[in-house]
Amino acid sequence: MPTVSMTVNGKTVSGEVEGRTLLSQFLREGLSLTGTHIGCDTAQCGACTVHVDGVAVKSCNMLALEADGAEVRTIEGMANPDGSLGVIQAAFQEHHGLQCGFCTPGMVMAAADLLAANSAPSEAEIRAHLDGNICRCTGYHNIVKSIQAAAAQLG
Ligand code: FES
Ligand code: FES
Repeated sequence: MPTVSMTVNGKTVSGEVEGRTLLSQFLREGLSLTGTHIGCDTAQCGACTVHVDGVAVKSCNMLALEADGAEVRTIEGMANPDGSLGVIQAAFQEHHGLQCGFCTPGMVMAAADLLAANSAPSEAEIRAHLDGNICRCTGYHNIVKSIQAAAAQLG
């Protein structure tokens, strides 16, 4: 089986994968990074969103081999070095941006991608950016509020 190597949350990792192994599978099953959720496996729900070379991607829509040599960041990499919640995660907690939490890793990764490009997004820009991330619980309102709060803090 081919071997894949990449940097995940700052650590170099490698493992054997099949040609068809998805990045989401490699992260969860190969590296035990189960914060990356799989809701649909068909690139619709956004729960599996991670960053690859600084860009948000749906990791169920990318082969592990396609990420060979890449810098990957997952929700586990959004925490502070001491393990406390990072700014965006803490804003979701404070502003009730989650209920069941299933969509939350993907929402946080999508939000981080947006805030890296636009430090003060409008509500419409936030909603447009979350187009590919589905939440079945919150009605999105508090997710938007959480991202606005994180933007104000990071800004
Ligand atoms: S699991 Fe990847 S988009 Fe739903
Ligand atoms: S909080 Fe349950 S799916 Fe979003």
